[in-house]
Amino acid sequence: MKIAVFSSKAYDIEYLSAANTQGHTLVFHETALNEQSALLAQGCNAVCCFVNDTLDSSTLHALAAQGVRLIALRCAGFNQVDLAAATSLELTIARVPEYSPHAVAEHALGLMLMLNRHLHRAHHRVRENDFSLNGLLGFDLYNKTVAIIGTGKIGEVLANIMLGIGCRVIAYDPVVNRTLSARGVNYLPLNEIWPNADIISLHCPLVPATHHLINTETVAAMKDGVMLINTGRGGLIDTRAVIAGLKSRKIGYLGLDVYEEEAKLFFEDYSNNLLQDDVFARLLTFPNVVITGHQAFFTREALAAIARVTLANITHFEHGELDQICCVS
Ligand code: NAI
Repeated sequence: MKIAVFSSKAYDIEYLSAANTQGHTLVFHETALNEQSALLAQGCNAVCCFVNDTLDSSTLHALAAQGVRLIALRCAGFNQVDLAAATSLELTIARVPEYSPHAVAEHALGLMLMLNRHLHRAHHRVRENDFSLNGLLGFDLYNKTVAIIGTGKIGEVLANIMLGIGCRVIAYDPVVNRTLSARGVNYLPLNEIWPNADIISLHCPLVPATHHLINTETVAAMKDGVMLINTGRGGLIDTRAVIAGLKSRKIGYLGLDVYEEEAKLFFEDYSNNLLQDDVFARLLTFPNVVITGHQAFFTREALAAIARVTLANITHFEHGELDQICCVS
């Protein structure tokens, strides 16, 4: 099959080309997919997209008009897809539901450790010959209460990591993970999660019910000095409410791998440009905030798995073995 691959970076080209043992024709485009760039998919039966490609109704209509039948997402989340439009246009949506939950869970742990021991600041100090410890006082993770919101594949791995460190783990998920509850993870309603957690890590999908899950009211209900980690999706957090929480010191530590307006920033080098996003700029002023640019998934193991499953999805579709939107459930 001929596939237009949008938002292609050097690493996408390397891993997808290496995994393409089925001989598909991959046409790589650096540009992101949107209604205008959809023209680049002319002559292709499928497009392959990533997290910040636009898959709204008008883009899907533009793709369908050119004969595209399959949207092969090379990511787990699918909040960027207008599923109703895709259904009405009879487009098939495939995704990679699991590539390495360890990659994301370990990144969440990395953010926690960076923040609680101020490693980001310590690294800069030592490079400046400043070996003082003032301001670097940390706390043990051991015995702290960690709340995991969403105990699917990633949340389960993180819960096990935190149990291994000796934390108490509490969780909220509409579906209780029996393996975790058997290991002592205590499922609580959200209103009991906020006041009891020292650390809160978000691992639920971005859906209408979880949009701005972290907002002025929920921040107010949290413990003073709470650590908040988001490697899920930016829209889970109302960033302005979190900035207010940082200013009042309600939030003691913030670790982000995702940001609601990230589509205008992440995955590109803007080091020669002026930052236009004032909300993001404010976040960068806090010493107790660490931000990475949606890299939690970015391990060799995950990229290899993403490429393998994406190409297998395309091959299955070609052989008529994929139901419409079968992979998005
Ligand atoms: P999953 O589908 O295995 O688990 C999601 C869990 O969230 C499920 O157990 C589900 O029951 C639960 N859930 C659904 N609605 C909820 C609600 N209202 N409140 C709390 N929990 C709810 O997904 P997985 O693989 O664990 O990924 C989780 C999220 O992580 C993805 O949706 C995606 O947005 C994000 N992600 C981020 C990456 C990154 O690089 N930063 C990479 C991969 C995923």
